[in-house]
Amino acid sequence: MDEGLLGQIDKERLPHHIAIIMDGNGRWAEEKGQDRLYGHYHGVESVRNIVEGCAELGVHYLTLYAFSTENWDRPQQEVEGLMTLLVDTIRKEVPTLNKNNIRLHVIGDMNMLPQAALNALEEALAMTSGNTGLNLIMALSYSSRWELVNAVKNIGLDVKAGKIDPETISHDTLQRYLTTSKFPDPELMIRTSGEYRISNFLLYQLAYAELYFTNTRWPDFRKENLYEAIIDFQARERRFGKTGQQIQEETQLA
Ligand code: IPE
Ligand code: IPE
Ligand code: MG
Repeated sequence: MDEGLLGQIDKERLPHHIAIIMDGNGRWAEEKGQDRLYGHYHGVESVRNIVEGCAELGVHYLTLYAFSTENWDRPQQEVEGLMTLLVDTIRKEVPTLNKNNIRLHVIGDMNMLPQAALNALEEALAMTSGNTGLNLIMALSYSSRWELVNAVKNIGLDVKAGKIDPETISHDTLQRYLTTSKFPDPELMIRTSGEYRISNFLLYQLAYAELYFTNTRWPDFRKENLYEAIIDFQARERRFGKTGQQIQEETQLA
């Protein structure tokens, strides 16, 4: 559609992993005089569009923050509506995911989900498990503090069982106990709707991610907005603690 923006993206330097906090559905709906759930329904359109955009570009991993553990504290009607929408959408999208070679993953505290939702998710995961293109990771009932506490607990249990020598615990050990153990860290994190915070999302994994904030509400976010974020990302100098001069010398050598 917008070849201009797409043409500005350097395909050789795409972020391997993009993570998105899909925020602003409720306000988007309220601004239109509608119920918050109306915003969540429209948010699904953006999910479809962005998943397609990432698959077309050749991004390897896309993590979407769809529901936080804190979101369980919202009014019951919104929680139920949102959960039903999320699980139904995932189920209905399986044929499209398969057609586009997209593999679905879920991260989060699955113990909080109703059994019917869990069964539907398990089925969707199994049906896309052979796909080798984009990895679509849905963060559902996810929070980073929950994930870190859980990881520490499991490491403790394995130390107690004699499976790990505590002296050898390293970054790699912790990484293996996170829900994201199979995925590289996100290089670009996008948050929509004008909020400048992380809201308990991938606190450890985002250590060196480039953060991109936009005022666009999630239901209005489309491929062109994604392209803008990637172009912005590609214009940044990622230093990882080194000096700009070191990075420039390394780039010249490569
Ligand atoms: C994001 O939109 C979706 C979820 C958090 C589940 P919100 O529902 O947070 O919308 P706002 O931020 O209230 O506008
Ligand atoms: C973060 O959005 C969670 C998701 C997008 C799923 P929230 O709307 O829940 O975050 P806060 O409450 O504004 O920090
Ligand atoms: Mg919000």
